Amino acid sequence: MFLVDKIRADFPILEREVNGKPLVYFDNAATSQTPKVVIDSIVDYYTNYNANIHRGVHALSQEATDKYEESRLKVQKHFNAKHSYEIIFTSGTTHGINIVASGFSEILKVGDEVLVSALEHHSNIVPWQMLCEKTGAILKVIPMNEEGGLVMDEYKNLLSTNTKLVFCNHISNALGTINPIKEMIDYAHNVGAAVLIDGAQSAPHIKVDLQALDVDFFVASAHKMCGPTGVGFLYGKQEWLEKLPPYQGGGEMIETVTFKKTTYAGLPHKFEAGTPNICGGIAFGTALDYLNEIGLENIAQYEQELLEYGTKKLLEFENLKIYGTTKEKTSVISFNIEGIHPYDVGVILDKLGIAVRTGHHCAQPIMDFYQIPGTIRASFAFYNTKEEIDCMVEGLKKAIHMLS
Ligand code: ALA
Repeated sequence: MFLVDKIRADFPILEREVNGKPLVYFDNAATSQTPKVVIDSIVDYYTNYNANIHRGVHALSQEATDKYEESRLKVQKHFNAKHSYEIIFTSGTTHGINIVASGFSEILKVGDEVLVSALEHHSNIVPWQMLCEKTGAILKVIPMNEEGGLVMDEYKNLLSTNTKLVFCNHISNALGTINPIKEMIDYAHNVGAAVLIDGAQSAPHIKVDLQALDVDFFVASAHKMCGPTGVGFLYGKQEWLEKLPPYQGGGEMIETVTFKKTTYAGLPHKFEAGTPNICGGIAFGTALDYLNEIGLENIAQYEQELLEYGTKKLLEFENLKIYGTTKEKTSVISFNIEGIHPYDVGVILDKLGIAVRTGHHCAQPIMDFYQIPGTIRASFAFYNTKEEIDCMVEGLKKAIHMLS
């Protein structure tokens, strides 16, 4: 049995009120809340062993280095990467994508093709457009269908020996669709293309096994996984990370420096120039421990219950349309109420202490596909409850009454 009340007690923020009402936090796809153990780990770092890593012989530096590297091992183990040096700490998903896009600018040639899915977040569109502009490669889009899934036959048709890279999110942030990434990776590999999966929305909700997926690159952010903002990771297969040039020059990423020539450090340091987010990296490890204590399988199962309950409740409204209706979904419900702008609903819900995101969710092409300005998005996490969903339903009734 999933003990949600016990879990909620781990999150101090869930006790607060907003506009005089108990907080109902349904914006988890944007960022998750932080359990006390993670907050404690941040305080512990700055209270007891704040120091730069990989540099000093002194005790504090050693302690901080050990904890930071321990965290890298936790990420490796959690996502089942083959080697810990295939885990590059980044400032987040966007940073990881840009490392790969920038590296491929030295590999791609005019006429090479890059496929990107229609379901992408802007962070998985813009870097590839910039890459194509720079290299003369051609960007092609894997289309989506009305349910918010990818059209797999079109994907297969688009793949050819010209395809060098495929980019797709594991789960759409705007709709919650779980994409068939294993199948997509296998098809891409059949034509010799590499695949980058944006796991920002999957890593918090389902267990990801990098070796089983056989994916070339995978990126995610700690702040959507109960960790702090400003830290995430890029996984790359060793052979790819060795092939790609460094992203930034600076301290830490070098082996030797003279004014004549610099040689670069090995993995993972080649991609980690400058002082990293040490505290964030360590706290990310604590967040993974916390999630694993509850168990990703238990989290996924409970969140599916919330998704089913929320979907059923929302469908009781007349004139409410849900966007993203594929069978395989995580706990995101994107919807609109006919004749009412999503922003106005968001403002009224906020007055009632209910946090949802409204707008295009950094995925304008999806909104263009549905010909809408945006949606109201309720995204649930394992510390949410059915009672909170009931509270949103009541809030929506009020909003409709006021705005109709
Ligand atoms: N990508 C985040 C979201 O979907 C910010 O809200």
